[in-house]
Amino acid sequence: MRRAIVRGTGHYLPERVVENTWFEDKLDTSDEWIRTRTGIERRHFAADDQRTSDLGIHAAQAALANAGITAGQIDAVIVATSTPDLTFPSVATMVQAGIGMRSGFAYDVQAVCAGFIYALANADAMIRAGLADRILLIGAETFSRIMDWTDRSTCVLFGDGAGAVVLEAADGAGDSSDRGILATDLNSDGQYRDLLYVDGGVASTGTAGHLRMQGNLVFRHAVEKLADTAHRALDKAGLAPQEVDWLVPHQANLRIIEATARRMQLPMEKVVLTVADHGNTSAASIPLAMSVANSEGRFQSGDILVAEAIGGGLAWGSVVLRW
Ligand code: ACO
Repeated sequence: MRRAIVRGTGHYLPERVVENTWFEDKLDTSDEWIRTRTGIERRHFAADDQRTSDLGIHAAQAALANAGITAGQIDAVIVATSTPDLTFPSVATMVQAGIGMRSGFAYDVQAVCAGFIYALANADAMIRAGLADRILLIGAETFSRIMDWTDRSTCVLFGDGAGAVVLEAADGAGDSSDRGILATDLNSDGQYRDLLYVDGGVASTGTAGHLRMQGNLVFRHAVEKLADTAHRALDKAGLAPQEVDWLVPHQANLRIIEATARRMQLPMEKVVLTVADHGNTSAASIPLAMSVANSEGRFQSGDILVAEAIGGGLAWGSVVLRW
């Protein structure tokens, strides 16, 4: 059976680091509130002339180097993003050009914070179906561009960045001892659109708009749905929660991550945490966390990883893979 295994990872964070205290003289907020309610301490913001594709190209190049392959050996590029440079063409084709890849195909996936999970499921299906042997998957965002800087309930939460993963086809036995993606679980429910959305767009206002969120309601959905989807994906993979070595969660809020780990009966030592330094980078947060942990040598070959995310839509899901 064909499996999609992780061959390499990479990430990029813009140079500018903004500490929580930066917001204190602009808004009625405090470092203390942000830290205790979210776990966020700082985030990176892209420079004025940096676009999502620029962040994605840096992360892609780092992942190719880590995988020890060239752009010419990649069959497809998928970028998960909700903050594209332009309405079209896709960020993925811009990354394709930026890394000097002249063959194959490239496209974007938009599922907000769950985007990278959707992209992983997409790439896994394509590799298993034989449509591609190597796929470069990127989560890249510039959420600083869609913040309402007068809304303290949202603008302190988000940051910019990009992470990338190279997936490659490999033969497996078809059971849970295989390396690579073992199971995926995707969900959405469009009736919750008003909980988390951007109030602009091509066919409505003709503007990019600003992010709007009823944070406490999203919080409740997150705590309930993230553990559920992770358990479903583990069931599909034929694995028990006790067999999980690493949880690589979407980095939106430390309290959500802790609640999910508790529901999965996982100690926090098994959870990859980057939320303090990155804030919520939407679709970039999981590949960023994966790449940071990998660069620190934390994952051993054979480890079971579970990645999960929820975001606007609502859209949520999880992936189980063996490193
Ligand atoms: N500083 C100080 N006070 C604040 C701030 C701030 N930055 N933001 C909100 N408050 C106030 C509120 O106004 C409210 O005050 P009130 O009681 O006087 O009305 C109080 O803090 C409590 O507000 P809540 O929204 O109930 O606070 P909560 O504990 O829920 O934390 C947060 C808010 C951090 C947004 C949390 O709800 C959360 O993380 N939600 C989920 C976010 C998420 O996971 N989103 C999905 C991914 S994002 C995507 O898809 C794009």
